[in-house]
Amino acid sequence: MDPRTNPYAPGAGTVPPELAGRSEVIEKAAIALDRCRNGLAARGLLLVGLRGVGKTVLLTRISQETEARNFVVVSIETPENRSLPALLIPALRTALLKLNRMSAAGDLGKRALRVLGGFVGAMKVKYQDIEFGLDLGSEPGVADSGDLEHDLVALFTEVGRAAKEKKTAFGLLIDEIQYIKEAEFAALIMALHKCTQNQLPVMLIGAGLPQLVGQAGRAKSYAERLFEYPQIGPLSKEATREALLAPAAKLGVEYEEAAIEEIYQQTQGYPYFLQEWGKYSWQCAEHSPILRSDVLSATELAIAELDTSFFRVRFDRLTPSEKRYLRAMAEIGATSQRSGDISSLLKREVQSVAPVRASLIAKGMIYSPSHGENSFTVPLFDGYLKRVMPHLE
Ligand SMILES: Nc1ncnc2c1ncn2[C@@H]1O[C@H](COP(=O)(O)OP(=O)(O)OP(=O)(O)O)[C@@H](O)[C@H]1O
Ligand SMILES: [Mg+2]
Repeated sequence: MDPRTNPYAPGAGTVPPELAGRSEVIEKAAIALDRCRNGLAARGLLLVGLRGVGKTVLLTRISQETEARNFVVVSIETPENRSLPALLIPALRTALLKLNRMSAAGDLGKRALRVLGGFVGAMKVKYQDIEFGLDLGSEPGVADSGDLEHDLVALFTEVGRAAKEKKTAFGLLIDEIQYIKEAEFAALIMALHKCTQNQLPVMLIGAGLPQLVGQAGRAKSYAERLFEYPQIGPLSKEATREALLAPAAKLGVEYEEAAIEEIYQQTQGYPYFLQEWGKYSWQCAEHSPILRSDVLSATELAIAELDTSFFRVRFDRLTPSEKRYLRAMAEIGATSQRSGDISSLLKREVQSVAPVRASLIAKGMIYSPSHGENSFTVPLFDGYLKRVMPHLE
């Protein structure tokens, strides 16, 4: 069918034509933010899920709805190897400028900007990746000691007071949280904790890979009481249908039931894969309705596409020993596996492969669902590994 109107949108962070199956989480975020703005007890949310389940697009949706409701949103994505202050500073400045344009009276927003200025000066000494040139002024003695934990608490307190004065709240939206370094994450959690204690309206809504739950707990033991961790998983069969059918229906295109069933079997409801299968099924179909036979042709194309992009970019970042470790995991299967079983397949001691395991966790390729257990963060990666490395040498 016409490639010009193909509605499906596979990609990283690419807004889907229909955001299926996530209304509950969106509502949860809206409630938490409203409670926070009204000075009521509320926990921040950390959305947890594997690669390609739709964390980023969910954060984007939450961000849009939150802004539309007159909250001040600070959106940050954490790339590997950038410090939190370097990311936070420009985003906070923009947010504070926006706050200052809001109609309610008060000077605390201007003061918060000066405090941010002092924070910049102090942090520049410590973090080489801060490239912030503007002079925002300063408030000597506030948030400028150079100790991140201390200064972040002071900064967030000022920001929270400014928001309260304007009868709004700050929604801090951070993607890929698992890449924040432990000490910096600890400082962030502490700053949010202080805001909660003092009923200041600053709330974190973050997203990341499953390892972030453990990281938060290690950074600050009270993190589990400060946040909720909604699991963002594959879509149910019902939501899968909706994700595929709704965009097509708008263009007058239907699916044979068996075609939907086949896509569900192939993708297991993983959103990114759904978009790929939807795209290729559309491409393979001559006309509506899209048939199961179209999906079967699409499967070949979709897998070829995944193998050269989604899976490949992740595979190419691995060292030979990391590849072997993952290949051994694939040999055992797609589910969670014990370190001991993996190392014995590799004919090595658990201890001797521990550094490889650690670096795979740091790269976000695997995570440990419980002590001594390992799982892939990339859905269906086991099948890919078997295709590119047919044998475990
Ligand atoms: N609820 C949904 N319904 C339909 N499609 C979705 C849904 N959520 C995400 N998608 C699609 O899935 C793909 C991946 O989404 P996204 O980039 O948000 O995933 P992610 O969890 O952030 O992945 P990563 O961990 O790699 O950053 C996109 O193509 C998006 O359009
Ligand atoms: Mg993402």
